Amino acid sequence: NPKAKVMLVGEAPGYDEDKKGVPFVGVAGQLLDFILCKLGIEREDLYITNLIKCRPPNNTLPKASELKEIVESCKPHLMSEIKQVKPKVVVTLGGTATASLTGVRFISKCEGLVLPMEHTKIKTVACYHPAYVLRSPSKESNIARALFKAMTIAGMKLKPKGMETGVFDYEIRG
Ligand code: URA
Repeated sequence: NPKAKVMLVGEAPGYDEDKKGVPFVGVAGQLLDFILCKLGIEREDLYITNLIKCRPPNNTLPKASELKEIVESCKPHLMSEIKQVKPKVVVTLGGTATASLTGVRFISKCEGLVLPMEHTKIKTVACYHPAYVLRSPSKESNIARALFKAMTIAGMKLKPKGMETGVFDYEIRG
């Protein structure tokens, strides 16, 4: 949604995303949708994109120097999206997007925190990547909390299930 108050920025398209030209439609995307649904938010309420716009040939893992080059060539496209959408808050999903937009290198050190985007006054919230939760399911609530924080700061009206008391009480899947 180009009019969204909150923008989610992932790392790079995977196989499914590359095929469809749509971000977060694979397994990690399904988990993201699941968390959003529990928060009472639709995908259509958000602007969802990636830092890296292309998928490496044969999905090879780029070397650190190559990754730097790829990020440098893709970042202007992301910055142009941010300029056009003008989100109130940007959620950086995972270490690569977080480091590139905030300069903080370790997601474990800043997860859940509001940080300024480098060289701007735009607020970001650092968030674990949904793919990480596929390996560490207990972190699902961290993602929910970070998204909840970002959406609250942006002034979005949320209707999370189980929040009738006004207390954020997110139950992860068993
Ligand atoms: N992981 C990402 O970072 N982005 C996607 O679009 C899908 C998986």
